[in-house]
Amino acid sequence: MSELARISLSLESSLMVRLEQLVEEGGYTNRSEFIRDLIRERLVAREWEDEKAEVIGVVTMVYDHHAPGLGDRLTDIQHDHHDAVLASTHVHLDHDHCAEMIMMKGRAKSLNHLADQLRQQRGVLHASLSLGSTGTQLS
Ligand code: NI
Repeated sequence: MSELARISLSLESSLMVRLEQLVEEGGYTNRSEFIRDLIRERLVAREWEDEKAEVIGVVTMVYDHHAPGLGDRLTDIQHDHHDAVLASTHVHLDHDHCAEMIMMKGRAKSLNHLADQLRQQRGVLHASLSLGSTGTQLS
């Protein structure tokens, strides 16, 4: 951990009240912890805006188990991006629906592209991409 630096900041009192609410609702022990997280959230967002940055992400999708050929298509897409796909988990939600979580690492642009490809397959009902960081730029 690098050396701690102290800052002070000025806020409108109404905004200060909101800050205190956010700190409390978030379960933070102090404002510094909350502000550190805010800064890191912004840094991760910037990593994802930089298409060349290496990031991690997880696609969570739910799809129709009975859609013809869909399972094979989803597998083929992952094989086409084997360098980016780290792991995947398949869950049989019920008789008709499957869920799959796919953990990925690579350039932001290619992970976005991969998520789009998966989402666009006929029979995929929903696919979200959660944006993560390798952590190298966060400390
Ligand atoms: Ni299934």
